[in-house]
Amino acid sequence: MHKLLISKWTKACVFLICLSPLAALGWRALHNGLTANPIEYITHATGDSTLRFILFTLCVTPFRKLLGLPELIRFRRMLGLFAFFYGCLHFTTYIWLDKFFDLKEVWKDIAKRPYITVGFLAFVLLIPLAITSTAGWIQRLGGRRWQLLHRAIYISAVAGVIHYYWLVKSAVLRPLAYGAIVAALLLWRLAAKFRSQPDAEGANPVKPQPQNSQA
Ligand code: HEM
Repeated sequence: MHKLLISKWTKACVFLICLSPLAALGWRALHNGLTANPIEYITHATGDSTLRFILFTLCVTPFRKLLGLPELIRFRRMLGLFAFFYGCLHFTTYIWLDKFFDLKEVWKDIAKRPYITVGFLAFVLLIPLAITSTAGWIQRLGGRRWQLLHRAIYISAVAGVIHYYWLVKSAVLRPLAYGAIVAALLLWRLAAKFRSQPDAEGANPVKPQPQNSQA
């Protein structure tokens, strides 16, 4: 298992799997499968993917610890960048296909509709994390400050769940399930802190990992 996880082919496979939600959208677009309301379909699909990838990213450290597979760290940056990538697609769908780049209208929405405000917050928080995800930025910021900054992903996850919960009218089961996962991950983190594991975020998040830089 350890050998498999450090193989560059495994990383390439994970990369392709991460692209599958986009490929599925492309496939549907080519085969008239985007339903009668394609904009809504794309917004929902990209929003779902953003939230899922945020959660996948947060799951890496607990899985590494619980399964005894430190090599899983190799995938965390890639998963985080895919969360940002799908977040960009989601936001672009909204400002382009939904609002036709009417930035005044977008801003009005962000200011007036709480679920958009909180979704925007979740997205904006991902930007500094994506920018500082490189080995160079880890060195520039120093491990401690980098870790502190990257805890913002938890706020982004909570904001993402609230965004989802507020926008659904009745089908609250899915956002609640996502909320339960985020709560469990947060509890795990707190428990790890109380067990005085200074490195609950990952055994090696502050060491530059050049092999992770092609996500
Ligand atoms: C990290 C940031 C974000 C996450 C995790 C996220 C997640 C989601 C999710 C899970 C959905 C529902 C998908 C479904 O029904 O299956 C959704 C829908 C939506 N999101 Fe986001 N979102 C984010 C940011 C944003 C931003 C920045 C905007 C716009 C400024 C936005 C606008 C919308 C809209 C308009 C919908 C559809 C609402 C409707 O059906 O009426 N989201 N988002």
